[in-house]
Amino acid sequence: MTLHLPTLTRRAFLTSAAAFAASTVLPASGLRNARAASVKEFRLKPAPGRTHVVPEPYGETPVWSYNDVVPGPEIRVRQGDRLRVTVENGLDEETTVHWHGMRTPNAMDGVPHLTQAPIAPGESFIYEFDAVDAGTFWYHPHQNSTVQVGRGLYGPLIIEEAEPVRVDRELTWVLDDWRLTKSAAISDDFDNRHDLMHNGRVGNTVTINGRVPESLTARTGERVRLRLINAANARIFALDFADLMPIVIAFDGQPVAPHAPTDGLVSLGPAMRVDLILDMTGGPGSRTTVVDRFYRGLEYRLVDLAYAETVLREGPPDWPVELPANPLAEPDLRDAIRHEVTFNGGMMGQMVMAEMGGSMGDGSAGGTSGGMMGNMMNMMHGRGIWFINGRAAIGHVMDPLLTLSRGRTCVLALTNATAWHHPIHLHGHSFRVLSRNDQPTAYREWQDTVLMAPREKVEIAFVADNPGDWMFHCHILEHQAAGMMGVIRVSGEEERI
Ligand code: C2O
Ligand code: CU
Repeated sequence: MTLHLPTLTRRAFLTSAAAFAASTVLPASGLRNARAASVKEFRLKPAPGRTHVVPEPYGETPVWSYNDVVPGPEIRVRQGDRLRVTVENGLDEETTVHWHGMRTPNAMDGVPHLTQAPIAPGESFIYEFDAVDAGTFWYHPHQNSTVQVGRGLYGPLIIEEAEPVRVDRELTWVLDDWRLTKSAAISDDFDNRHDLMHNGRVGNTVTINGRVPESLTARTGERVRLRLINAANARIFALDFADLMPIVIAFDGQPVAPHAPTDGLVSLGPAMRVDLILDMTGGPGSRTTVVDRFYRGLEYRLVDLAYAETVLREGPPDWPVELPANPLAEPDLRDAIRHEVTFNGGMMGQMVMAEMGGSMGDGSAGGTSGGMMGNMMNMMHGRGIWFINGRAAIGHVMDPLLTLSRGRTCVLALTNATAWHHPIHLHGHSFRVLSRNDQPTAYREWQDTVLMAPREKVEIAFVADNPGDWMFHCHILEHQAAGMMGVIRVSGEEERI
């Protein structure tokens, strides 16, 4: 994998700082509790467009975008509100919209053929669901995702707490990674076999909110809530905020006990979100450089924070940073059903499997038709390169990998028997991450996407309380397209205990 950040004249980004500020300052809290829940209407029109991904002298990049902007318009409502989003398909191909991380009814989940007929060109579909959880979410198509997301279809979805934590300013950074040609066009080598078999479509141009960033203004003493969303097809970020000491307050929209990031790096696999409290502790006129260190030897400067000459306050404020919990059902581990899920395949997959002492089949209850032979056949036909419990998905409709009784706690023991990282996402639920390689996690964090390192074992737990057929897949979109996807069914009846 190579990383070429185009040589650019780095200027002009800050012209958008005003736009940032205008859209991100939190209104004063206090009045919000009194309001009754209400329906908030939005319209999204995915269509071909053009935007300045890289600044001049580069020209505009032909993209696919929602409402002509990349990212798509921010959808922002309050917890408890109901969203009604009319999606009108202006593309030349079918699409859907998935509300990543939102616990919606199954029919609103936006999975083509599984939960809805895809939206044909020129047609519309109305999504309507309640904002049950507060937090940082995002939306994107679930149809031909490698191409549709890769060409720019994604947007932030922010659900405000009734009482947000107090900050001076709120920012959302939707991170993306593009593979551009020398003329700043999107390279159209989507779904090539190398990307499918390795770490996906990692690009050569990283953007914040759809644009190669220059710098952002900060004020000494200012407290910022930074919402990070990784909308890239495949790139994993590990952000180093240098001398700033970010405090993580939420993962994937779900509050977590406030803490400094492990190893000092804020890591996000594709689709993941992290909410940070950032106290701007640099001196007036100074700069802080944010560096992405995920790929060793390929570290690069993401963006500079440039301090104004004036001081907002001496030292950080002592306002509380803990977010109120969302209404998630607590897993009951004494009465949990346990399933093993093994991920395998990809380049060097055979080697890792041999090393980990497994067979390509998996040995979970209700073992499938997998097995070494089945997999070889799959690999020979079409795009089956990655497997979950021995099966490679072709399309979104398939027999469920697991069927869970509604209301029951489920523990999934996940094994990454591959040589690659995988951000594994479950639709319709958030889960607690209980352990990694048999070590309990420090925060038992709620997530909807868990990043697994090569050969790592991770245990997650959740109450299967949302009936329907839910996708369970790697969010490296090339891995998903090449088979790393399954369905978890939550049966409609309440289990009698
Ligand atoms: Cu972000 Cu299956 O989705
Ligand atoms: Cu993957």
